[in-house]
Amino acid sequence: MNVLSVELQAIEHRAYPIYIDQKVLVNQHLWEKIMRSFSAGKQVAIITNPKIAELYLGDLENALANYNVLPILISEGEEHKKLSTMEKVYTDLSEAGFNRSSTLIALGGGVIGDLTGFIAATWMRGVNYIQVPTTLLAQVDSSVGGKTGVNIPQGKNMIGCFYHPRAVMIDLSTLSSLPNREFKAGLSEVIKYGLIYDVDFFEWLVKNIDGLLAQDAQLLAYAVEHSCVIKAEVVAKDEKESGLRAILNLGHTFGHAIETAMGYGEWLHGEAISAGMVYAAKLSQELGWINQAQVDRITELFKRVGLPTSGPKNLTYIEYRDLMFKDKKLRDKGLPLVLLKAIGNAVVSYDYEQSQVKKVLTEVT
Ligand code: NAD
Ligand code: GLY
Repeated sequence: MNVLSVELQAIEHRAYPIYIDQKVLVNQHLWEKIMRSFSAGKQVAIITNPKIAELYLGDLENALANYNVLPILISEGEEHKKLSTMEKVYTDLSEAGFNRSSTLIALGGGVIGDLTGFIAATWMRGVNYIQVPTTLLAQVDSSVGGKTGVNIPQGKNMIGCFYHPRAVMIDLSTLSSLPNREFKAGLSEVIKYGLIYDVDFFEWLVKNIDGLLAQDAQLLAYAVEHSCVIKAEVVAKDEKESGLRAILNLGHTFGHAIETAMGYGEWLHGEAISAGMVYAAKLSQELGWINQAQVDRITELFKRVGLPTSGPKNLTYIEYRDLMFKDKKLRDKGLPLVLLKAIGNAVVSYDYEQSQVKKVLTEVT
């Protein structure tokens, strides 16, 4: 089993483990160890949705046999990552008498993880929680790093906070039940790490993408682990996104505009940011930072996965612009975009013209 660590630089020393292996979900001994590590109380809520519950809730309940487990099922889908869903969960916790010693467990993808993290941060001003990510996207990205929150109709993840889990339990065997479209969407975030931070990893992905698409267990384990290593390293250097961490948002400002414009859930997050990363690459080329051949290599890799390399045909530049300028990354000095100085080297930049963004978004490809 590979065990990584997220080292937070804060006044008090805080670190949490990421366990990565097949079948960690059912490892009762490991669960006991983790729960003991933060003196967890007896009450545990597993927050999940009906589909994931059918697949994995029983196993997790068995592994937590020594605790009083309350399953809380919320409706499936990005459109339920919203404040009213949180209210329902607060009601359930309240009626079951959950207190400050209680623990929440997020069993699911990024939607469940982001919601549960935000509920954990706000229930009684903060209780412990554990991430058990069951999608590729959640395993390589959303379960690590403590970004939590919900959407509002005006924008993605607009309400939220940084609140880290006590542990992340990545059970690679849960990926076997993941729909293919979701798996591919997760690969989008894996490719992101190569683009922003590690050219060798990008080259490894180019070489091994077919094996990954075939879900070769060893390749997949390496891709998940290496993605988590990069994420943990970036988060450890800049926990609250005051600088470096922003590179993790490559393609996201374009992508969030697509997700918001289309209605949450229409385009998967990983699909939207795939198109967004290609736009970011093209804008980087406009600025003279990378060349056509590099843009082509990036585009080609997303195409091989079967991910979109441009946004919805009917989305106009004005719609993009208006939505992008509502992004929560907007500052007084403008809208920062993550762009590429090279494959494997991303920077946050305000040094682009809006006309260049327009050109990239309206180019016929
Ligand atoms: P998701 O949570 O909607 O899950 C995708 C679908 O897969 C759902 O229908 C779910 O029920 C199903 N599912 C989950 N695990 C399964 C399994 N093992 N087998 C079968 N079906 C399964 O989507 P996602 O892609 O995991 O997460 C997207 C969300 O994550 C977005 O809301 C995005 O904003 C957020 N996100 C957050 C961060 C962060 O740092 N917090 C980073 C990236 C993305
Ligand atoms: N997914 C971007 C971040 O965690 O910062």
